[in-house]
Amino acid sequence: MTIKNICCIGAGYVGGPTMAVIAQKCPGVKVTVVDINEKRIKQWNDPDVEKIPIYEPGLSAIVKETRDRNLFFSTNVDKAIDEADMIFISVNTPTKTYGIGKGMAADLKYIELCARQIAAVAKNDKIVIEKSTLPVRTAAALKNILDNTGNGVKYQILSNPEFLAEGTAVEDLKNPDRVLIGGDIESEEGREAMEALVNIYASWVPKEKILTTNVWSSELSKLTANAFLAQRVSSINAISELCEKTGADVNEVAKAVGMDSRVGPKFLKASVGFGGSCFQKDILNLVYIARTYNLKEVADYWEQVIIMNDYQKRRFAANMVQTMYNTVSGKKIAILGWAFKKDTNDTRESAAIYVADYLLNEQAEIVVYDPKVTEEQIYSDLDYLGSRSGDANRQAVTVVNSPMEACKDAHAIAVLTEWDEFKQLDWKKIYDQMLKPAFLFDGRRLLEPNTKKEIGFEFYAIGN
Ligand code: NAD
Ligand code: UGA
Repeated sequence: MTIKNICCIGAGYVGGPTMAVIAQKCPGVKVTVVDINEKRIKQWNDPDVEKIPIYEPGLSAIVKETRDRNLFFSTNVDKAIDEADMIFISVNTPTKTYGIGKGMAADLKYIELCARQIAAVAKNDKIVIEKSTLPVRTAAALKNILDNTGNGVKYQILSNPEFLAEGTAVEDLKNPDRVLIGGDIESEEGREAMEALVNIYASWVPKEKILTTNVWSSELSKLTANAFLAQRVSSINAISELCEKTGADVNEVAKAVGMDSRVGPKFLKASVGFGGSCFQKDILNLVYIARTYNLKEVADYWEQVIIMNDYQKRRFAANMVQTMYNTVSGKKIAILGWAFKKDTNDTRESAAIYVADYLLNEQAEIVVYDPKVTEEQIYSDLDYLGSRSGDANRQAVTVVNSPMEACKDAHAIAVLTEWDEFKQLDWKKIYDQMLKPAFLFDGRRLLEPNTKKEIGFEFYAIGN
């Protein structure tokens, strides 16, 4: 089966970059990315390619090359579904905020809406691909909806979870560690559908890196991969506190531990806590699934990863307050970095939001600088927590365009995102313009400590 026409529902952090790379690597395939969010689609179609809604190194160049050649962005979801042989569902699957499973389970309403829309529109057979991260066995629900509300059209449902990380999405998509495809390996039609998707990826990914498996293993592998990654961060963060008490240095511990080839060096960087749209949501989902099968010990084990992460964010903020003589009331604190990691404008679940909220509860005045995050986004993140009124957030928080401006007359600085540019700042000049004693809290182990202490900073870093 040769695929000529792909539709992707959801033009977000996954749908946008993934389809851009498929369009670049498969010039003979027409790829249409659709979304109900008109503003987002308008931004994807902005003549100035630097204004696309997602910042990812290398992405705008690919969009420039492929857009209106074989990559299209549209709000006409029905038309794109109708024309496609293969449909990726790449919509958001946030944690439920209501009803059964509130605060734990994945909210599948957007997924179900997509399935119903496909069923209503499709006039010929389709391969439907779960690109979103989903609870294990979601494909069964999708199939039920498609088979029972459709018009006799045959569907093959594949699971093809995405492993890209934000900030390195393009590189991850071009050179993935693996591509995972789950499908109905028992049937001829299932194997054909899997083969069709394998062939798309095989345009640039070596065949030995393309794994095929059954749907349930594929769905569960994605949740497990994120749980393992997040678990490493919580593990090293747990050790970071012990380092602070004992005189050990968490970077040195991580290096020594990570050089064991059985452990490996990656994802052992202590921090103010992991953020991002997925780690927390996916672990909560895993915990919820385990609980629904009455697997209490399994659920408790993984839940600890989240408990540790929440603690790390709180601990960092509490340490700031304690260090500054137990009060930050009325004190100006500069936050450098609001994104959940460098090289992205995404702020979902960013540790900075929680640290700022903690400090605001202590009546601090906050000034934020982030090279890629807008003022509107920062206020919206704080408003979403509901800790205080929107007006109160706007009164206590200022967003500025330069780090120098953020730090002027501040009592303290907290580095919360590891943007490279923070390493190059003129720290002496910053120190001179601050109130004394000038506190510098490094939540990322980004800055070289000795030079900062020599300048005169009261310097604190996670895990040291
Ligand atoms: P996102 O919120 O950035 O994008 C989702 C998009 O889907 C939104 O623009 C929304 O308007 C659109 N949408 C929702 N319902 C729709 C509908 N019925 N029709 C058309 N469009 C609809 O989300 P994201 O970060 O791209 O994540 C998508 C999925 O991929 C999630 O399940 C997530 O867990 C998973 N994932 C994300 C990442 C990541 O780095 N962000 C990585 C791997 C996997
Ligand atoms: C993560 C996974 O790495 C991807 O494989 C996965 O596809 C994605 O989630 C997803 O499913 O959404 P992402 O959240 O974009 O990707 O970014 P990561 O690089 O994993 O970082 C997550 C958080 O952990 C960040 O806040 C980062 O600063 C933090 N982190 C990461 C640490 O604190 N220490 C580390 O050593 C690594």
